[in-house]
Amino acid sequence: MKEELKKVVAAAQKEIREVQTLHDLMQVKSKYTGKKSILNNFMQKISTLSQEDRPAFGQTVNTMKQQLLSLIEEQEKIIKELNYKKTLEVESLDLTLPGRKRGKGSLHPITKVWRELEDIFILMGFEVTEGPDIEDEFHNFGALNTPEDHPARELSDTFYLDDNILLRTQTSTVQIRTMEKHQVPLKIISPGSCYRNENDASHSPMFHQVEALVVDVGVSFTDLRDTLTIFVKEMFGDKIESRIRPHFFPFTEPSAEIDIICVKCYGKGCNLCGGSGWLEMGGAGMVDPAVFEKLGIDPEKFTGYAFGLGIDRIAMLKYKIPDMRLLFENDIRFLKQFK
Ligand code: DAH
Repeated sequence: MKEELKKVVAAAQKEIREVQTLHDLMQVKSKYTGKKSILNNFMQKISTLSQEDRPAFGQTVNTMKQQLLSLIEEQEKIIKELNYKKTLEVESLDLTLPGRKRGKGSLHPITKVWRELEDIFILMGFEVTEGPDIEDEFHNFGALNTPEDHPARELSDTFYLDDNILLRTQTSTVQIRTMEKHQVPLKIISPGSCYRNENDASHSPMFHQVEALVVDVGVSFTDLRDTLTIFVKEMFGDKIESRIRPHFFPFTEPSAEIDIICVKCYGKGCNLCGGSGWLEMGGAGMVDPAVFEKLGIDPEKFTGYAFGLGIDRIAMLKYKIPDMRLLFENDIRFLKQFK
């Protein structure tokens, strides 16, 4: 029986060494050392031996079993090591590669200009207010003295949501809302989005304006001119001149347009300013007495000035951006330049 045992153990050792997977190893383990295993069979056959041979044989079986178990343990380590190497090969990491840098975010050029202009006006004593993007005809046109047949009211220029409801085409709406809600005197700016049905290099269907309104006793055109001059110098630097020239708006009288000297050629004339040396920045004027009357403010006692500047235009001029659409395409390569 001893010979038989030796043969079995030799066969077991060979099988264990050849096993490639943990699953197969467990099967071999139970085949040779488990409850109903070959080695246990030998133990059961012990009764066929003589009394004195039994202990020695029993011990031999046990020793063999221990040897096989430690061999199985060794093989288990080998298989695990192999498995680990295979996994590494598949999921190999190149630890010499440089890490990926996470870029820091930055503010959009419009946001930068928006915040900067708020700071400038706040320093000059203005309060910041807001109005709704969705408006009615009264606040966008009627109260601003815009005649019923004015072309700006046309569907082709204005986005109507309903008969009387539209996306505001100008922040001048907030002049009206502020005068309806608050007592004069007033000194406010109102930055926000506006919408018009136009789309080219210098017009976007959604754009931004900042409106200003100052109403008090004795407010004059000189105050308007002073405020604009200070604003332009603060925003663009000392070198940049501004001018106002006569124009027409239904809600101001007299009305003016505001230009700044071309930030590229300083007045010589170039492609950015179309040769004129000046760039348009917005509209302004003295509040028309008819507007005050509609809101119950005494035009004999109070006067006011107002202006509306294009925030996107200011950003374009300040950063020399040649096409307004660049501001809204959100191409990261473009935006990165404003860090
Ligand atoms: N709302 C005008 C526009 O969008 C700009 C404007 C002109 C605003 C004169 C004013 C103003 O406050 O007084 O074209």
